[in-house]
Amino acid sequence: MSIEIEVLNGEHSRPQAETLFQQIEPHDAQRREKGNENEPGWAHITWADPDLRVMVDDPDSGLVCHAGIFFRTVTWNGQKVHVGGVGQVATHPGHRRRGYASIALEAAVQTMRHHDAAQFAVLFCESHNFAFYQSRGWHPFTGTVYAEQPAGKIRFEAMAPFVLDLKRRAPTLGTLDMCGLPW
Ligand SMILES: CC(C)(COP(=O)(O)OP(=O)(O)OC[C@H]1O[C@@H](n2cnc3c(N)ncnc32)[C@H](O)[C@@H]1OP(=O)(O)O)[C@@H](O)C(=O)NCCC(=O)NCCS
Repeated sequence: MSIEIEVLNGEHSRPQAETLFQQIEPHDAQRREKGNENEPGWAHITWADPDLRVMVDDPDSGLVCHAGIFFRTVTWNGQKVHVGGVGQVATHPGHRRRGYASIALEAAVQTMRHHDAAQFAVLFCESHNFAFYQSRGWHPFTGTVYAEQPAGKIRFEAMAPFVLDLKRRAPTLGTLDMCGLPW
């Protein structure tokens, strides 16, 4: 079976991505609102919009998987550093466990590696996805994360941070200020 993988401008491709999210949303609604015994849920969080999007299309079904790509100057222990990021990784429930998210993540990582300024990459995920990212080279960031929300800066704990080495080894400790909305 042939699939098509594209990396598109985030804003222009937003309507297409939102159609996929609407199909996925009912499956995730309870977790998003309530979290679980270890996680607070994340319905209250305002998220950043991706700069780029990896879109995986199946010839029969259209868009089946999406990964957002982000670039931003953040601070780590008070020092400015330009990073890449991945977020909004999602596969249509009827097309999971076929490797689509792995393909989208790999395309996102390749895109960040080609972006010369990005020193390391950051993502946030729920505990049921830790193994997925760890087996693909991402490490937990065990320091403190701050991010902006409409009401001001917060300590960001709604999801766990993971980092990936790009141009330099990613830090796993310290204070990471996202200097903007989380992704
Ligand atoms: C998490 C999510 C994106 C994974 O999408 P996916 O397309 O099913 O992911 P993949 O198929 O690449 O990988 C999922 C698992 O299926 C396995 N898999 C891949 N191809 C397979 C195949 N042909 N047959 C059986 N298993 C397969 C993978 O090995 C992987 O398991 P592993 O992590 O133990 O290696 C998807 O479940 C989802 O959209 N969840 C809801 C939203 C969400 O939680 N997003 C993450 C935000 S950070």
